[in-house]
Amino acid sequence: MNKPRQFPDWKQIYQDREVETMPWFNPDLDADLERALTDLNLNAGTVLDLGTGPGTQAIALAERGFSVTASDISEAAIARAEGIGKEQGLDVTWKQDDILNSTLNQQFDFVFDRGCFHVFSPEQRQNYLRTLNNLVKPKGYFFLKCFSHLQPGEEGPYRFTPEEIRDIFTPHFNIHSIKETVYQGTLDPLPQALFSVLEKH
Ligand SMILES: C[S@@+](CC[C@H](N)C(=O)[O-])C[C@H]1O[C@@H](n2cnc3c(N)ncnc32)[C@H](O)[C@@H]1O
Repeated sequence: MNKPRQFPDWKQIYQDREVETMPWFNPDLDADLERALTDLNLNAGTVLDLGTGPGTQAIALAERGFSVTASDISEAAIARAEGIGKEQGLDVTWKQDDILNSTLNQQFDFVFDRGCFHVFSPEQRQNYLRTLNNLVKPKGYFFLKCFSHLQPGEEGPYRFTPEEIRDIFTPHFNIHSIKETVYQGTLDPLPQALFSVLEKH
């Protein structure tokens, strides 16, 4: 299950392909995040969309009134998403940033990771976790969407069981919920995913 994975060259792919063709492209706010925000009555505050890629989630959150920062390792992704955000008159802070070597120095009310964490190898996860811990305010939330162990095959992202998510994140977070869901995007059928709601200690 933890066999090394191959991923696109993240810096290149956003120069070579239209984002609408990418498997993770979802023009709408992720349905699981939307439900969680409603359940937690979260409708204002500072947000980091980590690994924003096409920027659709950052834009949808800014449209809902959140104060959004969006980061990605790909300069091209950030430049493209920034252009769209500006056309729409949205005030999002766009930052090229490698989360494994991050220069982000703000703390956020919540961080959303939709598909970034699950590209990191087991060796990279502790580094990710240390940085994430610095980015979320005490009692702030971390919303994570990643591939589920129920997704067949070994192509693409790492898969996780709910127990693995618990083991990785409990040193820094209380687990509110972990549910089986799907990863809305351009694939048919939609990949099996986990959506986790975590609150920082
Ligand atoms: C599966 S895509 C998801 C994009 C976006 N969150 C969405 O849901 O549309 C994963 C994203 O993580 C970004 N990424 C990969 N490694 C990264 C890193 N080390 N730091 C920041 N972003 C990274 C990629 O460039 C890509 O945009």
